[in-house]
Amino acid sequence: MSIIMDKDAVFHLQTRKTSYILAVVGGKYLAHVYWGGRIRTPRSEDALLKRWSCFDVMEPDCGEGIFSLDYLCREYPTGESDYRVPSLLVEFEDGSRETDFLYEKAEVLEGRKKIAGMPCLYTVSEDEAQTLHITLKDEVGGLRLHLYYTVMDELDVITRYVRLENTGDKKVRVNRILSCSVDYEGSDYEWITLPGAWGRERHIQRSRVTRGENRIGSSRGASSHQMNPFMALLSPGAGEQAGEVYGFNLVYSGNFQAGTQVDQVGKLRAFMGMGNEDFSWLLESGESFETPEVVMVYTKEGLGEMSRIFHRVYKKRLLRGVYKEGKRPILVNNWEATYFDFNEEKIVTLAKEAADLGIELLVLDDGWFGKREDDTSSLGDWKVNLNKLPGGLKALADEIEKNGVKFGLWFEPEMVSPDSELYRKHPDWCIHAPGRRRSLCRNQLTLDLSRGDVRQYIIKCLDDILSNVKISYVKWDMNRHMSNLGSAMLPPERQRELPHRYMLGLYEIMEEITQKHPDVLFESCSGGGGRFDAGMLYYMPQIWTSDDTDPIERLYIQYGTSLVYPVSAMGAHVSAIPNHQSGRKTPLATRGCVAMSGNLGYELDLGAFTEEEKKEVKQQVQEYKRIRELIFQGELYRLASPFEGNFAAWMICWEDRSGFVASVVQMQAEVNGSIHRVKMEGLDAEADYIDLDTKEIYHGDELMEIGLVVDLHGDYQSRMWKFSRLSREGEQQWQY
Ligand code: DGJ
Repeated sequence: MSIIMDKDAVFHLQTRKTSYILAVVGGKYLAHVYWGGRIRTPRSEDALLKRWSCFDVMEPDCGEGIFSLDYLCREYPTGESDYRVPSLLVEFEDGSRETDFLYEKAEVLEGRKKIAGMPCLYTVSEDEAQTLHITLKDEVGGLRLHLYYTVMDELDVITRYVRLENTGDKKVRVNRILSCSVDYEGSDYEWITLPGAWGRERHIQRSRVTRGENRIGSSRGASSHQMNPFMALLSPGAGEQAGEVYGFNLVYSGNFQAGTQVDQVGKLRAFMGMGNEDFSWLLESGESFETPEVVMVYTKEGLGEMSRIFHRVYKKRLLRGVYKEGKRPILVNNWEATYFDFNEEKIVTLAKEAADLGIELLVLDDGWFGKREDDTSSLGDWKVNLNKLPGGLKALADEIEKNGVKFGLWFEPEMVSPDSELYRKHPDWCIHAPGRRRSLCRNQLTLDLSRGDVRQYIIKCLDDILSNVKISYVKWDMNRHMSNLGSAMLPPERQRELPHRYMLGLYEIMEEITQKHPDVLFESCSGGGGRFDAGMLYYMPQIWTSDDTDPIERLYIQYGTSLVYPVSAMGAHVSAIPNHQSGRKTPLATRGCVAMSGNLGYELDLGAFTEEEKKEVKQQVQEYKRIRELIFQGELYRLASPFEGNFAAWMICWEDRSGFVASVVQMQAEVNGSIHRVKMEGLDAEADYIDLDTKEIYHGDELMEIGLVVDLHGDYQSRMWKFSRLSREGEQQWQY
């Protein structure tokens, strides 16, 4: 049993290694008691009520005496006399904003409840999870707040979301509704976030948590390149292998807010949820509003273990469909090979070259539709451009398949070009504020997905093509952030609902399309990794990590991304040199090594390879086919951080430790430098492992304690090792 309810209203949530405890204090207020390493039984916690000072606003009538909400570690802060960051802000029709949410009841549910219209972790059988459902009630306002805690004990995670129910007879305006808030008694923590920019996504930022507020978020209508909906709190000195870490990740792809606040007495509040300052939602009598889910991970075993827990749960209970476990094809994408300048012949030639190298899928990127010759037109007109592809899509797909390569196609369904049939016919279908300018980004506007007619149009366009053409893969791109907010369909009092209604609309479209076409592999993209989040992963098991394909840049991007998201979710391509984004020249082997730690693809003119390079690529492709199951299903250990030194190193190991692949990249050559070693992790110390290339045998403990020598000569050099464990009889246990 993972949820224990005490009669004194103490709730103890237990996972394999953690405990999370909340309690009703003074018979009324829901308090946070503890989150950390697993304990057996908590004691009841009225001690929490005792603190206050003479300058505090007191709560009346609370059992034994007076106390201040401002001192309480609260489970879901709703303001009142607590001056710290609230999770909920509402406004009643009479203009009042005061609430008083008191404990009403609690129940334990087997399994979990789905969140209406939104992505969330799932269970395959009820016994995988238990859910604590606590109801708080604001009598005067006619509101009920439902707090849901799903405990997946085997996977070691707890998730939270809330539902606000309007049981009164008047409308209520909700101005803020977060998914979680956690109060810590002390504030001696550091925090990690993942800021970035286009081409430089999810770099790691670590700093001390300080007095006052530290906030992150997005107001761009997408989770964004600029900040990821993830944060971690760490005990001082916590590192990859040891130390307390609390990780929070929001399963949502739109605007979000998260942060920390250290109060007057040094307590810390951490919070996370959807929406920004502009969010507002009108809740009619009888209606409910549900927030997205936050996945929460605690471990004492450092950042590495936090990541492995996130990866495990996402691979097992977030990704869906036939590709969730792997089996993803090696692809070639024509974008950096041709950009908009292609025709049927070029694409078929690329497919033939791909087949020759063992590549399994060709992706036709942007430019195949309408009259699109550059990025100034045709988004929304999802009809093939017969000037470029006179035989049409069907003939092209058949021709490509004939060459033994599968066919994939790029779409940007959420957008419209002002120069398009669609825009001329429906100028009000885009997001815009009445009578004001419509600012362009990459010459395009965002379709208003809060509208049912727009959603139906998009679904029909995609469905028609996917039903009539043999398409095995779709790249779902999205290349601008929202601006000039406004919807022609929403009434004035609901205009600020647009960003969230857009996300609900997007999720509805993606659910319908992916369910209708379960055999298609969908890869999400947003100008590279501008929407790399758990919300998108629920519909599409892989995401284009960044438009920056330089392997050295990718070391930082993929390392940062791996804090939360599994390598199986990351699209990673070998591209040409000089690299189109950075101008850097790197060895083909290093480009391969970095891309092989994700979903391997090639994105360059394959015909431009020399014979020698072709041989090398063939070997990479062959090698990847042999290790990809491990890449998709294995566990990641980060061994050396590019943010901290001249080397980046990582390994991916089977969960049963029977084999692993380890990689290292040297950023800059060192002349006459010291000896460098990479120490492995997570191996069977007592067992022997064989290097599958050199056949040399090492002890597991030796690999972990002494490590392997990194002997690389030159800038941007790399090395990949493959090891299998040996049985006592000397048999290789990973059949590579
Ligand atoms: C942005 C994507 O990230 C690129 O890979 C490419 O698909 C372009 N869009 C096409 O417009």
